[in-house]
Amino acid sequence: MTDETCQWQGWREATERALYGPGGFYLRPEGPAGHFRTSVHASPLFAAAVARLLGEVAEELGTTEIALVDVGAGRGELLTGVLAATDAGAGDTASGLPGALTVRAYAVERAARPAGLDPRIEWSDRPPRGVRGLLFANEWLDNVPVDVAEADAEGTARYVEVRADGTERLAGPVSGADAEWLARWWPLREPGARAEIGRPRDEAWTAAVACLAEGRAVAVDYAHVRAARPPFGSLTGFRAGREVPPVPDGDCDLTAHVALDACAEAVGAASAGWPVAGLVTQREALRALGVSGGRPPLSLASTDPAGYVRALSSAGEAAELTALGGLGDFLWLTQRVPAATG
Ligand SMILES: C[S@@+](CC[C@H](N)C(=O)[O-])C[C@H]1O[C@@H](n2cnc3c(N)ncnc32)[C@H](O)[C@@H]1O
Repeated sequence: MTDETCQWQGWREATERALYGPGGFYLRPEGPAGHFRTSVHASPLFAAAVARLLGEVAEELGTTEIALVDVGAGRGELLTGVLAATDAGAGDTASGLPGALTVRAYAVERAARPAGLDPRIEWSDRPPRGVRGLLFANEWLDNVPVDVAEADAEGTARYVEVRADGTERLAGPVSGADAEWLARWWPLREPGARAEIGRPRDEAWTAAVACLAEGRAVAVDYAHVRAARPPFGSLTGFRAGREVPPVPDGDCDLTAHVALDACAEAVGAASAGWPVAGLVTQREALRALGVSGGRPPLSLASTDPAGYVRALSSAGEAAELTALGGLGDFLWLTQRVPAATG
């Protein structure tokens, strides 16, 4: 074993190194799309729905010049899709896509800007400050590294440490702000129960939302709420399209579902007077934005065969995005950010 694989670290530190350290999983040229499909990759209907949402936010703000901040932007696929949708809306007013918008597109990403990206997209490793518009984060928070806790034989919550080969051991008792977070959001009730300590995600979400001067922030992710946490946590790995054991060696994604109710409350606590955040499934959110898996009428097959085939394929993609037991179960956390007064 090398020195590095022998070293014990908490999961937060080990994940940080494996995903974002030198040679880290997310900094590689193939990007996330080389290893798994998110809603963004599943269908252009997703970007079109985000374009419609952007149109709604622009209307609320009474403007046609609007910022779209994509946090955890991958290789800029969502922003590229939204710009294509708004371009299409400008060219075809019957398309149902917003066409009269001037979109200021910001990709926030730890990986480098990919070659050939639309020059309208600004690329940075941190969000812009004070913009008006929509902040959108699809499958970002599940990749914000967290520590893992496990209850020992006496029921005491202890940090779990891991080596680069994936071997684990129990370390010291969970303490301080982490212990408070566990008690509030994810109490461990019996020996062997495990939890991911979501505090860094609460902080990351609160900081991201703070970049908006006015508008809406939406986080979309694999998620759970206090009444239904997974008893042994959800930390897992993905490599080349397959779920694999979580090993922090830089060769696989490391992800754990997000306690989005905790993220929502963290923002509420940081910003008195803001509207309470909403939490709905992706199925509900996309349906409200016009994405439905309904089949086209069979009569279309004889009047417009090519249109029928297109509509059928689009219905299949919509069904995937809204499927129960699949992408449709993702949660959308929406935080409205009012303009500061005074
Ligand atoms: C699962 S991928 C999702 C990519 C894209 N949003 C999508 O839905 O296809 C998560 C992305 O978040 C990025 N990321 C993680 N933490 C970040 C941070 N603090 N700031 C910016 N990007 C981050 C990773 O580099 C990775 O590209």
